[in-house]
Amino acid sequence: MDHLDQWKRSDYCGNLREEDIGRDLCLMGWVQRERDLGSLIFVDLRDYTGIVQLIFNEDTEEDLYKKAQGLRSEDVIAVKGKVRQRSSMNETIPTGHVEVVVEELKILNKSKVPPIYVKDDDPVEETMRLKYRTLDLRKPQMQRNLRMRSKIMQITREYFLNEGFVEVETPMLAKPTPEGARDYLVPSRINEGKFYALPQSPQLMKQLLMCSGFDRYIQITKCFRDEDLRANRQPEFTQIDLEMSFMNQDQIMEVNEGFIQKLYRDLKGIDLELPLRRMTYQEAMDRFGSDKPDLRFGLELQDVSSLVKDCGFKVFSSATEPGKSVRCLVLKGKAEDISRKKLGHLEDFVKGYGAKGLAWMKVNKDGIQSPIAKFLEDEVIENLKETLNLEEGDLVLFVADKDSVVYGSLGALRLNLAKEFDLIDKSKDEILWITNFPQFEYSEEENRYVAMHHPFTHPLPEDIDLLEEELEKVRALAYDLVINGDECGGGSIRIHDAALQEKMFKALGLSSEDAQDKFGFLLDAFQYGAPPHGGIAYGLDRLTMIFTGSDNIRDVIAFPKTQSATCLMTGAPVEVSDQQLRELHIEVK
Ligand code: AMO
Ligand code: AMP
Repeated sequence: MDHLDQWKRSDYCGNLREEDIGRDLCLMGWVQRERDLGSLIFVDLRDYTGIVQLIFNEDTEEDLYKKAQGLRSEDVIAVKGKVRQRSSMNETIPTGHVEVVVEELKILNKSKVPPIYVKDDDPVEETMRLKYRTLDLRKPQMQRNLRMRSKIMQITREYFLNEGFVEVETPMLAKPTPEGARDYLVPSRINEGKFYALPQSPQLMKQLLMCSGFDRYIQITKCFRDEDLRANRQPEFTQIDLEMSFMNQDQIMEVNEGFIQKLYRDLKGIDLELPLRRMTYQEAMDRFGSDKPDLRFGLELQDVSSLVKDCGFKVFSSATEPGKSVRCLVLKGKAEDISRKKLGHLEDFVKGYGAKGLAWMKVNKDGIQSPIAKFLEDEVIENLKETLNLEEGDLVLFVADKDSVVYGSLGALRLNLAKEFDLIDKSKDEILWITNFPQFEYSEEENRYVAMHHPFTHPLPEDIDLLEEELEKVRALAYDLVINGDECGGGSIRIHDAALQEKMFKALGLSSEDAQDKFGFLLDAFQYGAPPHGGIAYGLDRLTMIFTGSDNIRDVIAFPKTQSATCLMTGAPVEVSDQQLRELHIEVK
């Protein structure tokens, strides 16, 4: 095909306005579409800035006109021409008042008929989009998303480097790290039978950098976790990872709030008021059934255990001892909108979260309607009405169970109902810190306590003594940043004392030998002068989702993986040759 020779682009398509009328210019880009009206040809030319209309008309020289007739979508062309006023304005695009009368046309590359359209509202299957990602990425929305991602990285560097942080890279060929997902392993050719793990995060490395005196570290880096993928998770994702020395929790949060404030100011023109809202883990669970509450709508959980503890419905009265509860959601004015069939669906929904049922109560003109009405004494009903401020038309949905099940099921139901009844105010962002996380959570799978954040998180000083026996009561100096119900970042103050670290390992059921074997290099470093330190990591993908308004993490990643961790464009992962396997001392069965 043609070379550019002496051609030099003078402008981008999307920038042309009325003040450019009369100018001679040279544009390059892709043919969005071509309309041949016989004596007139219109071509929409696209580059990443937008689209402008090109025109070939009766004054166009014959050869050029013929060439233009052959243009098709996604051909790559260069044109020289003159800007003029458009006769019929198009108010839907920024360049809609002008067009370019073409005087020269160079076809730089012909396109076959593209398998997907390059336009935002094309309702094509996502698998096609991922397979033909190069075309998909040409779409304006995808261009905007990835450019926003780049902007966030730029602001991140600007802010933190200005705050005295230094960028340090840490290894990708690493030792297994402690985030608790499965590792991606890389076999070593030179060391037979041994494996590297791709880092789940640079957690230990950044702590070691603090021990090395770097004081403030930042890295924008890939992390790898072999876990079940959901809408906002990818097997490889990017963290904005940072760590600071000689700082307490409030001081670290303050530096980070400055960052969030700058993001909002630079990207959305919004001035956030600092400090950001804070909520303890316990309050978040009690009110929203979630440690990442979406505060853009109400519909809070309400604890009615004390009102039903002596009632005739055994399921309720037996769920009021410590560690269990009866809680409910009140859907104001929705009693009429929700049929029995629908209530059945909602019950199935909460059963998916381990609840045994979903009792309901409608407040009608002439009393209440409920499958458990016959078990509820008048006094109990009156108390519920008063405490919950119930009015005619309200629907109450109850779950009675272990607290963890009540929180999990009602928390999920709350989000589900908000979507269904359009309760979320999408025009605002609700940002908050969650603090005072439990240090441990019980893993039914492993039959033991595991670290909720990671084993290097410092307990609340007043809870350290509980490490001996009451693990479930120990709280951590850990904090998550939540935006619109998404965990966008998480961090903590770290243990910097070898003795406390060993105590923590012991509480987690790790023997001294195991601890030494896995994390000896960290314990060693703590022997030679470790400063107090703490930090946080943000999910860059999730931040980008917030700032682009995307609800699919794949829309903010250039070449993402599917739910089953494959790349539809390249076909990865793939089988490899026997030769390669032999060299790696691996046999595939
Ligand atoms: P954590 O495991 O909470 O903390 O991860 C930090 C942030 O990374 C994002 N994130 C993900 N994003 C996309 N896909 C995933 N699979 C995924 N997993 C996590 C989330 C999360 O808040 N080393 C600690 C941080 C620290 O303590 O400083 C860590 O990795 O937005
Ligand atoms: P049952 O007596 O099991 O038929 O249940 C009567 C009603 O109570 C049904 O609407 C169930 O959905 C509901 N229910 C049963 N178990 C629970 C529970 N643990 N929490 C809330 N509602 C329940």
